[in-house]
Amino acid sequence: MNVVHELEPARAQLEKLGRPLGFVPTMGALHAGHMRLVESARTQCRSVVVSLFVNPLQFGPQEDFERYPRDVEADSAKLAAAGTDLLFAPESATMYPPDFSTFVDVGKLGTRFEGAARPAHFRGVATVVAKLLHMVEPDVLYLGQKDAQQTAVLSRLVRDLNFRTGIEIVETVREPDGLALSSRNAYLSGPERAAAPTLHAALETMLKEIQAGRSVEEARAAGVRVLSPLARLEYLNLVDASSFSRLQTLRAPAFLIGAARFGRTRLLDNLWIRT
Ligand code: PAJ
Repeated sequence: MNVVHELEPARAQLEKLGRPLGFVPTMGALHAGHMRLVESARTQCRSVVVSLFVNPLQFGPQEDFERYPRDVEADSAKLAAAGTDLLFAPESATMYPPDFSTFVDVGKLGTRFEGAARPAHFRGVATVVAKLLHMVEPDVLYLGQKDAQQTAVLSRLVRDLNFRTGIEIVETVREPDGLALSSRNAYLSGPERAAAPTLHAALETMLKEIQAGRSVEEARAAGVRVLSPLARLEYLNLVDASSFSRLQTLRAPAFLIGAARFGRTRLLDNLWIRT
């Protein structure tokens, strides 16, 4: 596996790679969820490119940018073992020169749910991914279902700005007790870790109740009852999979989305209801 930090050597390497080329953008601290995306790309594409960049633009001022877990050596070893062809790990100055001033605004979709909780988040995600897509020019962009609203935002970006890449959404990888793998799980205390799978359980309960014919409101109340008392719920809703507007009745494709704080750690989860 080649590892490059600057754009020009990355371009030189990229030109040598066979197509189709699969691209997996990440912020590192790689776990089995990220690796599932790399494995999917490895199975479906001739070449696999991964980026590792903790993007300051998508973190709010009070968020965990500084303490976000970083372990480039362990990440490189995992990626090499999984058959990655090229790891692009740029420095901040390569991505954002001092007078950088152009941003991608994703509109209303970026202001709902995660966008309401984290106002500049999706603008930061859309801007960095637009840049990475221009740099890497992949055939297929691999995204995790885990970040459901991010998949909607980036699908919209690719369509609205005419990027030529396809998109593959890979199902969420979970711990045996249902907790979705996330780099932020490392922040949880023992009791918080024990309580955290109740977010997934709440979503499962809500889905079962809706499928049994209960109204979305009744199903939501049943979901809330399953949550641990340690959970501070931010939202639990049924939404349209592309607009993220609320649905009153089940109409696929949709997501059941949830976010809750366990202590200082904010966790997200969702269930994907496909057509
Ligand atoms: P990061 O949080 O590092 O996630 C990289 C990719 O891994 C995302 O597509 C995410 O949805 C996926 N992923 C995370 N946990 C997963 C799990 N448990 N199962 C399956 N896939 C999972 O998302 C980002 O980085 C950034 O916003 C990024 C797109 C790189 C832009 O900076």
